[in-house]
Amino acid sequence: MILAFWSDKGGTGKSTLATTTAKALGLPIVDLDPQGDAARWCKRAGHACTTLSNESWETVKDILSRLATEAADVVVDCPPGHDPRSLSGAALARLAVLVAGDGDSDLVALGRGLEYLKRLKGAGNPGLAVAVALNKVNPHTILGRQAVEGLRRAAGEKGYRFLGAVGNRVSIRQSFGLGVSAIATGGAGAHEMRGVVGAIRDILSSEVQQ
Ligand SMILES: Nc1ncnc2c1ncn2[C@@H]1O[C@H](COP(=O)(O)OP(=O)(O)OP(=O)(O)O)[C@@H](O)[C@H]1O
Ligand SMILES: [Mg+2]
Repeated sequence: MILAFWSDKGGTGKSTLATTTAKALGLPIVDLDPQGDAARWCKRAGHACTTLSNESWETVKDILSRLATEAADVVVDCPPGHDPRSLSGAALARLAVLVAGDGDSDLVALGRGLEYLKRLKGAGNPGLAVAVALNKVNPHTILGRQAVEGLRRAAGEKGYRFLGAVGNRVSIRQSFGLGVSAIATGGAGAHEMRGVVGAIRDILSSEVQQ
């Protein structure tokens, strides 16, 4: 089954959260993004990774369809955007994690992203669970606080689970470049990441029990 990390906007932290989650939950990664950020992290970290960015669209669809029906979970790191290729991981996922910052354009993109995922649910993936994580958020600013509180409040009504917020942390930026887990670095960033990954783990285990 597929656990997809996706956002309509670039640079929000999809690959960072995807690799951190994959490492913490012991799951292999499929990198759909031609930028190959997750694949480079995996190479440095010695983590299992399949790169599909050079494959034809038909091959990508075939492989993702197979992964979606297998019992074992796999983390899929999607490229940004809402074209069919970018959304293909989420289109077949059991859980799609949307990653967003707290800026105005981030939150607008997040709203668009939630709409696209709602459409995917209505177009062949009714079981899709949707979750939102805030990343690179400063909780001491008004914007950061409003984003966290607003997203937490709207979760039930909008049909997503709120996973929590991760700050803009030097340790997290470094861990990605060095090929280690953001959780392994210790400090506040690791604590926040652990919270987000723990919430993902809870969703995955509750979905399995249903
Ligand atoms: N919480 C964080 N604190 C500090 N830096 C971060 C954090 N999360 C991600 N970054 C950094 O921000 C940059 C973008 O992160 P990342 O590549 O994970 O985003 P992305 O959404 O996958 O980007 P793209 O849309 O290009 O695929 C990277 O340099 C990464 O190290
Ligand atoms: Mg990425």
